[in-house]
Amino acid sequence: MLWLKRLVLALVVLLVVIQVVRPSRSNPVVDPKNEMSASLAVPPDVAAIFARSCNDCHSNRTIWPWYSTVAPASWLVAFDVNQGRSELNFSEWGMADPKKRADALEGICKELTEKEMPGPIYPILHPTAKLTDADIQTVCRWTQTVRPGAGAGTNQTNP
Ligand code: HEC
Repeated sequence: MLWLKRLVLALVVLLVVIQVVRPSRSNPVVDPKNEMSASLAVPPDVAAIFARSCNDCHSNRTIWPWYSTVAPASWLVAFDVNQGRSELNFSEWGMADPKKRADALEGICKELTEKEMPGPIYPILHPTAKLTDADIQTVCRWTQTVRPGAGAGTNQTNP
């Protein structure tokens, strides 16, 4: 079983060596005037759903878990957060152009309805992130009322 000992040793050495590559785990400073809630009325129930299920990847208020300090998990987590923030960042909502914001609102309801977000793995590690059908409805009703051109306040959708 010498080969097994060697293999385990090699894996341990590898695990130690890869720790050298440390992705940055930054939370850029949040400017309150760029928060989504500064330009849109976000009701408390919707805000609570975003907070427990989306903020870690879609805001600058990421709570970095302990395993995000250990490679290779750290690489995966940092990659997800960077990708997530570039698609949709609640903390930098005010800096996005109107088209991107309208797309994002539509995308939020779509991703939830299709059960694409918050993804398959995140809710396993964060059980409170799981969304019920009622949660999804709550979010979709909201995105439909605030989306420019959809319902409330415009006559575009009314005959
Ligand atoms: C574990 C990290 C993570 C969580 C949690 C998460 N997302 Fe994402 N999200 C991503 C990543 C990464 C992408 C970009 C890649 C992709 O589209 O799959 C993304 C993309 C998106 C997009 C753009 C999709 C597109 O293709 O246009 C929307 C909208 C979105 N997420 C909404 C949400 C909402 C709403 C929640 C909370 C219910 C959420 N996400 C939770 C990581 C996450």
